[in-house]
Amino acid sequence: MSRLGFATDTRAGLSDRVRQHFGRRAAGYEAQALLQQAMACRLGHLCRDLPLPTGPRADLGAGSGLLSRALPVQGLLQLDLCPELLERNPLQPRLVWDLNDGLPPALRGAAMLVSGFALQWLDDPSGQLAHWCRALATGGWLALAVPTAGSFPQWHRAAAAAGVPCTALELPQADRLIHAAAGAGLRLHHSRVLRFSRPRQGGLPTLRHLRRLGAGASRRPPLSAGELRRLLAQWPVEEPLTCEVLLLVGHRDPTARP
Ligand SMILES: C[S@@+](CC[C@H](N)C(=O)[O-])C[C@H]1O[C@@H](n2cnc3c(N)ncnc32)[C@H](O)[C@@H]1O
Repeated sequence: MSRLGFATDTRAGLSDRVRQHFGRRAAGYEAQALLQQAMACRLGHLCRDLPLPTGPRADLGAGSGLLSRALPVQGLLQLDLCPELLERNPLQPRLVWDLNDGLPPALRGAAMLVSGFALQWLDDPSGQLAHWCRALATGGWLALAVPTAGSFPQWHRAAAAAGVPCTALELPQADRLIHAAAGAGLRLHHSRVLRFSRPRQGGLPTLRHLRRLGAGASRRPPLSAGELRRLLAQWPVEEPLTCEVLLLVGHRDPTARP
């Protein structure tokens, strides 16, 4: 384990590391997840009075259930990779499932699929999003919040200046996701990239926040202590830390091909 608690077993797949990181931090997740909570409220507002068809409903990467609890829709399957987070989720039913394997067959013809801050952890976010859209019943709804590629430019620049690998999770491009959803038959009702910034957010507090959230897993091996020192020395403390979140709400077009 490195000083900042990032996993050192780089042989295991990302899913294993993601599950371990979130599992270890499950008890403190909600206290740290302020942006996730805010986006859940926005999606809750956008999803008022949706004309849902009949069919199954699910929150994909539901974790402790923050998003589902903010929605005016009941009975969503709480699906997640991490059993420790699901144990803290007060909603039912729940299913431990790896979304890299697609959706469980029971969700075919779904009336509603929602997901908050989970798609970016998958190996092929655009491909899985298209798969989710195709799994919707005609007239079924998708509501999504996902951090996207314009996030944390300060971290990327600091790593480049320090000559060390950037261990930030590679995030999907918002326009590629929108294109994938529309190409898979989703008629978009709401599609916006929101930008947030935190003033004077240094490197160490940023990395510690991600670790406390359980979101410290990376596709790259952890930095050595020396690399970490070089990264932090280049972090632009005076510059606000910025991140980008795509919010999408749409329904499956009746004219879309199956
Ligand atoms: C940042 S949390 C978001 C949880 C919740 N949706 C929210 O808005 O608070 C990301 C969630 O995605 C889940 N996740 C990551 N990779 C996954 C995968 N391959 N299959 C299923 N769930 C996954 C994690 O276990 C975690 O619960």
